[in-house]
Amino acid sequence: MTKTLSLTTPEPSDATARSVNAPEAAEPSRHPHRPVRSFVLREGRLTAGQERAFRELWPRFGVDWQPDRVLDPCALFGVAPPAGTTQPAAPVQPQATAAGFGAEQIARELASDATPSSPWSEAVQTSEQIEDGRPRTRPITLEIGFGDGESLAAMAAAEPARDFIGLEVHRPGVGHLLLALERLGLDNVRVLRADASALLASRLPAGSLDRVQLFFPDPWPKKRHHKRRIVQPGFIAAVARALRPGGTFHLATDWPPYAEWMLEMLDGAPELFVNQAGPGRYAERPASRPITKFERRGQRLGHPVHDLLYRRR
Ligand SMILES: C[S@@+](CC[C@H](N)C(=O)[O-])C[C@H]1O[C@@H](n2cnc3c(N)ncnc32)[C@H](O)[C@@H]1O
Repeated sequence: MTKTLSLTTPEPSDATARSVNAPEAAEPSRHPHRPVRSFVLREGRLTAGQERAFRELWPRFGVDWQPDRVLDPCALFGVAPPAGTTQPAAPVQPQATAAGFGAEQIARELASDATPSSPWSEAVQTSEQIEDGRPRTRPITLEIGFGDGESLAAMAAAEPARDFIGLEVHRPGVGHLLLALERLGLDNVRVLRADASALLASRLPAGSLDRVQLFFPDPWPKKRHHKRRIVQPGFIAAVARALRPGGTFHLATDWPPYAEWMLEMLDGAPELFVNQAGPGRYAERPASRPITKFERRGQRLGHPVHDLLYRRR
């Protein structure tokens, strides 16, 4: 038997979910119709292999998601959520958070380049590749901005009992990961070409994730660009909402001022997160985190790397 339904329209949620998801006010913009983004969409040519990956592998691993849809991570992997552990997402407007502003416009741009649609995009369409009968307790990791996806694929290979959802906006990076998944023969990864801020804003069931990973996000070093950093109070609240109690938020950066920014904001939300290394402290890199492509680049430039590990209350 196979399972259906990975995408559903949002429904009203209870007051608890709403309060954790309470959006911060969007920063006033000189261009009110232009979204504040944590990324620049670089065109980037696809290699022939990546072109093939989109044609042949996207239908197997890819998920077409739109900002007016809720993504049900459990259904995505062919298992139903354990009763009572998740709540439906609150119908928050995507533009309610600074980073999520203009989500529909961003989604249109991300979808504009003829990515073949995947069976996952049809809410009641299920894929032949989905095996049923997995335990309902398989934990789910969400990785935001996986770059070329090599470290995500390595983690998924090392932890076959865990499911992974990768988010990235850069098309060649998505193609690269699809090829890695094929090469390693993995079936515990799903891939979205989507803006993480929009998805997290309210489009994941509360408490549905076990771990969220944010490795080497763009540091936006200039002060006038700090508002483009993905780590903001509204983003932190959205991550907290999507994580189960006791779940993990793991961040890493090679830009010390961004590390301080992350530490200050996350330690500043003690009602949501507990710093695993102790207040004001960075964590050791867990052996389970492979060195990423951007980390290697940072190392060549002599940048120190900081890991931050938080437990969801
Ligand atoms: C500096 S790179 C790091 C990539 C990878 N994590 C690594 O360590 O090699 C940051 C990545 O995050 C992606 N990104 C930035 N904002 C994003 C967002 N809102 N949603 C999804 N991906 C995003 C960018 O496209 C870029 O590939």
